[in-house]
Amino acid sequence: MVSGSTSTLPLVLAISGASALPLAERALQLLLQAGETVELVISRGAIGVWQAEIGLRVPLEPEAQERFWLERTGCPDGRLRCHRWNDQAATIASGSYRTRGMLILPCSMGTVGRIASGVALDLVERVADVHLKEARPLVICPRETRWNLVHLRNLTALAEAGARIAPPVPAWYHQPRRIEDMVDFLVIRVLDLLGYELGELRRWQGPLPRPDSEAGPTLC
Ligand SMILES: Cc1cc2nc3c(=O)[nH]c(=O)nc-3n(C[C@H](O)[C@H](O)[C@H](O)COP(=O)(O)O)c2cc1C
Repeated sequence: MVSGSTSTLPLVLAISGASALPLAERALQLLLQAGETVELVISRGAIGVWQAEIGLRVPLEPEAQERFWLERTGCPDGRLRCHRWNDQAATIASGSYRTRGMLILPCSMGTVGRIASGVALDLVERVADVHLKEARPLVICPRETRWNLVHLRNLTALAEAGARIAPPVPAWYHQPRRIEDMVDFLVIRVLDLLGYELGELRRWQGPLPRPDSEAGPTLC
């Protein structure tokens, strides 16, 4: 089931140069399949990571990128607008342009650091800055391990400024069988935060029933 949401405002999906790009691609696909409007901005770092990790060449020009993603996600009629990584004059760079919120999935620690210090060198950082100043939902999915003290401080500063920090950490309680199950779980749980209801998800229903013979000591 893909029911989308009740808002007609677009979501900004930003992708920066961290190693979790299949999550971003699946988020884009689920949103487009549900008829949501997506404003997509991909950092230069992310384009490099895609090429390095899976040999995928993402076009830089917005029109070519739109065609590329609509074909790749299998959503030829999807409502997608792509923006160049450094286009500071893009619609989404202004607080007067209304959005539903912004999701940065995945988010590199470089992008985390620049947003946390208010440095808006590229479009991802500028749009994040705008979402914070306009007090709109900003969900950041940092991907790095381990987190050093600088990472932790930057993430704390972002949380204090109003962002929601949602690292893509897998769970096993939904009993994933394939990597795609894990990807869907991570993506749908993150999109939950922005009020979307996308896709089927096996949510926690309480512990599995156990035969009496296997019951352990009562924990209290
Ligand atoms: C293959 C590859 C994987 C990377 N994975 C990560 C990562 O998981 N997390 C991270 O913070 N940086 C990662 N980096 C480093 C960032 O891509 C790099 O700091 C880049 O400048 C970030 O640019 P951006 O923040 O503008 O996207 C990776 C780089 C490469 C080449």
